[in-house]
Amino acid sequence: MKQVTVLSPATVANIVCGFDVLGLALNAPSDKLVMRLLDKREIRIINKDRFNLPTEPEKNVFGGALLAMMKEVKEEIGFEIESTKMIMPGSGIGSSAASAAGAVVAANHLLGNRFTNQELVQFATYGEQVASGSRHADNIAPCIYGGVTLIRSNDPLDIIPLNFPPLYVTVIHPQIEVKTSDARQILKKQILLKDAITQWANVAGLVTGFMKEDYNLIGRSLVDVLIEPVRSMLIPGFNEIKKACKEAGALGGGISGSGPSVFMLSKEEATAKAVELAMRSVYEKIGVDFHIHLTTVNPRGVEVVNS
Ligand code: HSE
Repeated sequence: MKQVTVLSPATVANIVCGFDVLGLALNAPSDKLVMRLLDKREIRIINKDRFNLPTEPEKNVFGGALLAMMKEVKEEIGFEIESTKMIMPGSGIGSSAASAAGAVVAANHLLGNRFTNQELVQFATYGEQVASGSRHADNIAPCIYGGVTLIRSNDPLDIIPLNFPPLYVTVIHPQIEVKTSDARQILKKQILLKDAITQWANVAGLVTGFMKEDYNLIGRSLVDVLIEPVRSMLIPGFNEIKKACKEAGALGGGISGSGPSVFMLSKEEATAKAVELAMRSVYEKIGVDFHIHLTTVNPRGVEVVNS
């Protein structure tokens, strides 16, 4: 039986100002997925973790992504998946995207790599839709391409991988679940022109900062006047965390994806460690359980680790 194992990384969508258009991949944590090729049109899902996710393909992120891909495959084939998720669903670091992206990269490998990365992102958005009710690609694109990506357009899909300097990422995950669908529901449907101007200036600044490897410009541009004021209410101690991390030397940061995780970017490892301590002290003071990841930007995306 043809089989492949892939590691699929966590991602930070939005990168503060780029709601639904910017994202970056992390070196940790990542999900593991073993996939076997079947000789009939079937999707079998075996969960080997504690999350109890649905196994019916139509209700499952793997299934959503693979069913979209199988529409473009003529042969009598199917897939069996053994999933070990390390990225907690509802954490804000791209758990559903890691499943969707991992599934399509693994399936493509078993099918002789016939699809492009852009096609894989397109299929994977159908998996994201199962989880969050929306086909945004800002977690999926960096998960598949690695590094930092810009989704210039969703339809037709236009993905721009960006250059970026070495960056440390400190992520704190309060142990509460925020469903992306809920966190999207509460957003305002209309915005003021003056806020839109601030937002697109910062998106342009952030992209330029990445491309020119200008840490100062990256830090100045990590400003979100549209989404953060609404969603930060769902995150305990958000303003205190942000203030303490900036004082510890972080370039800046904010809500990771739709939350509740909060991430901070740092130029040096020592600063990222000081940021970790600052995050810890805020949550220890207010008594919130949390996990912390101190990692770097992952330039590879989903990786095939054995066939
Ligand atoms: N851009 C998405 C959001 C990422 O913020 O809702 C979460 O999946």
